[in-house]
Amino acid sequence: MKGIILAGGAGTRLHPVTLAVSKQLLPVYDKPMIYYPLSVLMLADIRDIMIISTREDQPLFQRLLGDGSELGLRLEYAVQDQPNGLPEAFLIASDWVGDDSMALILGDNIFYGPGLPGFLQESQRGLDGCVLFGYHVSDPERYGVGEVDEDGRLLSIEEKPQHPRTNRAITGLYLFDNKVLDIAKNLVPSARGELEITDVIRSYQARGKARVVDLGRGFAWLDTGTHDSLLDAGQYVQVLERRQGVRIACIEEIALRRGFIDADACYRRGAALPKSGYGEYVMETARKERETR
Ligand code: G1P
Repeated sequence: MKGIILAGGAGTRLHPVTLAVSKQLLPVYDKPMIYYPLSVLMLADIRDIMIISTREDQPLFQRLLGDGSELGLRLEYAVQDQPNGLPEAFLIASDWVGDDSMALILGDNIFYGPGLPGFLQESQRGLDGCVLFGYHVSDPERYGVGEVDEDGRLLSIEEKPQHPRTNRAITGLYLFDNKVLDIAKNLVPSARGELEITDVIRSYQARGKARVVDLGRGFAWLDTGTHDSLLDAGQYVQVLERRQGVRIACIEEIALRRGFIDADACYRRGAALPKSGYGEYVMETARKERETR
């Protein structure tokens, strides 16, 4: 399975913060926002990852993450020139994806909770159709909203409905089999002039091939779309990290734990950031790993 992080868009709801810098590069407490979706793909054991951004922002993402080799990843970069909708990611990535299946994650979606790696790895196994992740929210009208039967099969999905039928938001993490490339090619823009992810999903749903995994109550799916929610997300991460003394979405730690890199490579990454608590944590993680050998 390959992974795509869609980090385009103008972030207009965060202006003027995002006038000069991409939303997905803004800090969420101690690290850039894109570390969070990247860590989700890494937890799913996905190492081939394409980052799609605007043309202006691409060099910034490259400066931050390079070719990924220091993390045991293979990163590719591609451009979405206009915000033509999420499914355009499949058209852009089509040649690179080849005949693989793929995970699409939105660059501003933050997931944190118990059992995430297990969910992700299980959902990938024998993937036939698509797997979506549902989350109970108080304001479903802001999201794609899904109705699901007792077996977890999607019955309907609507994009930002005025009168949502359920409180189940369909989050910005999607697993698709390779058929999504053909589906994306045949999409037509919606009334707002964009290709819609909900149309892609509906095409799977019509064939009974869209499954929803609900993320339970102990799970955090955080919004970063407004000034307040971005600050809330940062504070959520700060509270957990300070209380537990572990870091969320530390890409070096995940790479080490999943065996993408060894302790020396992990240490080098931390040593390059010696003055920050984050760098210190990465070095400490590597030290502990060496001690257990
Ligand atoms: C997009 C999708 C929506 C999904 C949401 C998750 O909306 O269109 O279905 O629920 O991401 O973040 P956007 O945030 O681009 O308005």
